Order: sequence, then C-alpha cells, then structure tokens
Amino acid sequence: MILSKWLATLLGGTLAVQGALAIDVNVDDESSLKSAAKKVATRMMQYYDDRESKNIPGKLDGTWWEGGSMFMTLILYWFVTGDSQFNAAIQEGMYFQKGDDNFFPSNYSQYLGNDDQVFWGLAAITAAEFNYPERDGEPSWVSLAQGVFNTQIPRWDTSSCHGGMRWQIWPYQDGYLTKNAISNGGLFQLSARLALYTGNKTYADWAERIWDWSATTPLLNTKRWNIADTTTVGTQCTDHGDFQWTYNYATYISGAAYMHNYTNGTETKWKEGVLGLVKTSQQFYPTKGFNDANGQILSDTTCEPLGNCDRNQITFKAYFTNWLGMLTTIVPGTYDLIFPQLRTSAQAAAKQCSGGDDGEHCGIRWYKQAEWDKTKGLEQQMAVLGVLSANLIPFKNKAPLTLASGGTSKSNPNAGTNSSDNDIPVLNNIGTGDRAGAGILTVIFVTGWAVAVTWMIRGG
Ligand SMILES: *[C@@H]1O[C@H](CO)[C@@H](O)[C@H](O)[C@H]1NC(C)=O
Ligand SMILES: *[C@@H]1O[C@H](CO)[C@@H](O)[C@H](O)[C@H]1NC(C)=O
Ligand SMILES: *[C@@H]1O[C@H](CO)[C@@H](O)[C@H](O)[C@H]1NC(C)=O
Ligand SMILES: *[C@@H]1O[C@H](CO)[C@@H](O)[C@H](O)[C@H]1NC(C)=O
Ligand SMILES: *[C@@H]1O[C@H](CO)[C@@H](O)[C@H](O)[C@H]1NC(C)=O
Repeated sequence: MILSKWLATLLGGTLAVQGALAIDVNVDDESSLKSAAKKVATRMMQYYDDRESKNIPGKLDGTWWEGGSMFMTLILYWFVTGDSQFNAAIQEGMYFQKGDDNFFPSNYSQYLGNDDQVFWGLAAITAAEFNYPERDGEPSWVSLAQGVFNTQIPRWDTSSCHGGMRWQIWPYQDGYLTKNAISNGGLFQLSARLALYTGNKTYADWAERIWDWSATTPLLNTKRWNIADTTTVGTQCTDHGDFQWTYNYATYISGAAYMHNYTNGTETKWKEGVLGLVKTSQQFYPTKGFNDANGQILSDTTCEPLGNCDRNQITFKAYFTNWLGMLTTIVPGTYDLIFPQLRTSAQAAAKQCSGGDDGEHCGIRWYKQAEWDKTKGLEQQMAVLGVLSANLIPFKNKAPLTLASGGTSKSNPNAGTNSSDNDIPVLNNIGTGDRAGAGILTVIFVTGWAVAVTWMIRGG
C-alpha cells in the first residue's frame, strides 16, 4: 500500500495506476466493511462539497432527485456504521429541500417527475425507521414522507388506464403521457412503509391498489414476474418499454416485503411477489460475457456492457442492494436467497475502486473487478457505498422501527396538504391534447430555466 501510494505520487496522477490499488474489504469482517464504506462515503461527500451549487444545501449540480437518493443511502450508512460525520450535511440538505413539508420545493417543482419527489420521501421514511436524529422546530421525518404521499395520491390518474401515476407531473413535460415503473413502484413502496411504520390501514390500501393496478399493465407481470420500465396512456397502458433496471425490480420487491410484514404474512401474494421478483432479478447477475462474474456480481446489464449508463442509472445498484439487504430483516428466511450475491458483489465493487489519482475512486462495472473501468463520480461512489452498507445489515441485525416498536418520529397524517403545490404552474396554459407543442414547450421551458440558473450561479 505504501509503495503503491509512493508510486502514485511519483506518477503525479498523469498516468492512471489502474489495478494497482483498490479498496480492501473482507465481507466477513464488520470493521473491514465499515472502514471500506467510510472511504467510499468520504470520497462521495468530497464530490458533494466540491459542487458548484454548494450554497444550496441538498442540491446537486444538474440534478435534484439524486440529492434525495444520496441522503437515503447515507442514512442507511449511518444506521449500520454509527458514523455520524455526515449528519449535519444530511439534515441541512433534507430540511432545506422540504418545500411545504412535501419535498416539492418551488424552485424545481415545475419540471419534476413523481419519481424525483418520491425518492426524497423514501429518504424521509428511511430516517423515521431508524430513529435518525431530528432537529427541533423541524417537521418529523415520517411527516415529511406523509407529505409526499399526500401530494402524490391526488395525482392518481384515472383519466387513462383506469389508474396509475404518470411519470411527469405537468402536461407540458415530455413524459406526461408515460406511466412508468419507478413512479408507481416508488409510491407503492412509500405507502407500504408508511403502513408498517404508522399502522394506518389507509396507506396499506393504497399500496395494494398501486400493486394491483400495476399488475393490470406491463409494468408488473405477476405471471412471469417481469417489470417493464414504461407504458403509455395513448394505448391505455398496453404497450411496454422493456428496458430492464435493477431499481424497478427492487422498488416493487421492497414494497411487497413491507406489505408481507404489515399483513403478518396472512396474504400470500406479498411473499409470492418478493420471491417471484427476486428470482427474475437474477438477470442482473449475468453469467456470460461479463468477465468471470459467474452469476455473482450485480450489474445494470442494460447499460453497463455498452458503457452508456447515464448518471441516474449509475446509482441504481445502491437502491437495489440497500432495499434487498434490508428486506431480509422483515421477511424471515430470505437471507440465503439474497446475501451470497450481495457479498460477492461487495468484494468486486471494492476492487473496482482502484481509479483516479489516489487509486481509490470507484468505477461502475463491478464485474471488471480490479480492472478500473475508467469512470468516476459521485454516482459511482453512491453505488459502491450502497452494496458495502447492505453487507453491514446482517451485523446490525435490526428491523426497521415502527411506532409500535419504538419509532419516535411523530406521525402527522395531514402533512403537506396545506399548499397549492398541485395547482398547475401558471406558465402552463396549453390544451392537454396539444402533444406536438408539449415537447417544444418543455424545451423552451427547460432552456429558459437553465439560462436563469446559469445566470443565478454566475451572478452569485
Ligand atoms: C432556490 O433558488 C434560490 C436562487 O438560486 C436559492 O437562493 C435558494 O436557496 C433555492 N432554494 C432551494 C430550496 O433550493
Ligand atoms: C398483525 O399482528 C399484530 C399483533 O398480533 C396485530 O396487532 C395487527 O393488527 C396485525 N396486523 C394486521 C394487518 O392484521
Ligand atoms: C416482521 O418483521 C419482524 C421484525 O421486525 C419479524 O420478527 C417478523 O417475523 C416479521 N413478520 C413476518 C410475518 O414475516
Ligand atoms: C390514516 O391516514 C389517513 C390518510 O392520510 C388519514 O386521513 C387518517 O386520519 C389517518 N388515521 C389515523 C388514525 O391517523
Ligand atoms: C396554511 O397556509 C396558510 C397560508 O400560507 C398559513 O397562513 C397557515 O398558517 C397554514 N396553516 C397550517 C396549519 O400550516
């Protein structure tokens, strides 16, 4: 290690020292996992601290939703390691972006999708389930999750497909005519977790409604246990965009796990859903053409082999690993199904952290193991942090808390309802049938927004 560091210094970072370094981890050893996770998290937070928009807590450059998913990943990291060094940044970012207690802040709400908002809600319910520290004078974590639920439910759209959440929220957005797996699966999971945490049946009823509706569309095929990424309202949700993504599967698997636990295992459909979808998500542990991954190393196979994963897609494995890892605490008997591959994936992921000038920046193609794939960034760090933290869940061995089992975050079923956030923004006065114009308007709108933001950044 010392020799390698010296070599790296000598080469001055101009020549990549691929494969020479990497992060060591022994997945059988809690302290080894903790120190590896800490290195990866620290590097991730350096990216966070170096961002251009750092005067806006919780806002990453060029993306709003990833702030929420990053905090969600960090809250689990805190839970399994006890490392509180990032807590001030997490709390500050979460509260700053809370909007009217519903994570729909007016700076960004005009161009958000339901999936963007729901990730912040999932971060908040994660905080509630772990008794993550709250600040005096701020709304409780669970109430912020309830605020997201309360703003999204009125958007349940029966004007097409007999239900479902649209991907984008406003008629002028591209994607308004799409209903997708992550928006529906995200709200399904949030509802299921609110049901278990609060014990309030209304949330469970909604979770079941979303699952059952999804199963009437290609978004959730409960015979073949396939999850399509998208469907569109023009066909009454019969067409399907079939890209396969880890997080789509994980979001439905996790929600079904919470419902299984909420129903005390009395409704077989939830356990069947968990087992069925875990089985088909084996496709993300490929065997052929992925070095010697041998069915043991997690991969977003739709983009990784082509090397064209965008920044969103690079984060997906963080959620897959965290949600599947956590469900083993509420669905007994699933450890042997899930953890062997999470363990081999963590080992491979740590080896992939062998890039950059210090030889410890992570790439995204874990199946390449010690051969760094020459990509790096906050998202790569987040994905590896996810799988390392997931491997600490069995050491922690604690199920998510509920109000009945010691959760201290206070429920407020009316959170987020006192706002006009669901009124269509003034800028939109196009007819809903005006499809051709909608895309153009989006471009104008987004461009205008980008110009405004650039101006604000330059001006500030
Ligand atoms: C909204 O934008 C303004 C102007 O850039 C900024 O000062 C403020 O912090 C932003 N608020 C949020 C919640 O991001
Ligand atoms: C599950 O069991 C608990 C404890 O017996 C009970 O209080 C609760 O009402 C049950 N939940 C459901 C949804 O039946
Ligand atoms: C629900 O989760 C608890 C852990 O909180 C576990 O003890 C219990 O067995 C689970 N219930 C079911 C039906 O799996
Ligand atoms: C349960 O949640 C619903 C929906 O938010 C709310 O109207 C109701 O008051 C809640 N019930 C209790 C007992 O908190
Ligand atoms: C609701 O919003 C109005 C206007 O912003 C405010 O005056 C009122 O205090 C709010 N009520 C609650 C219960 O937050």
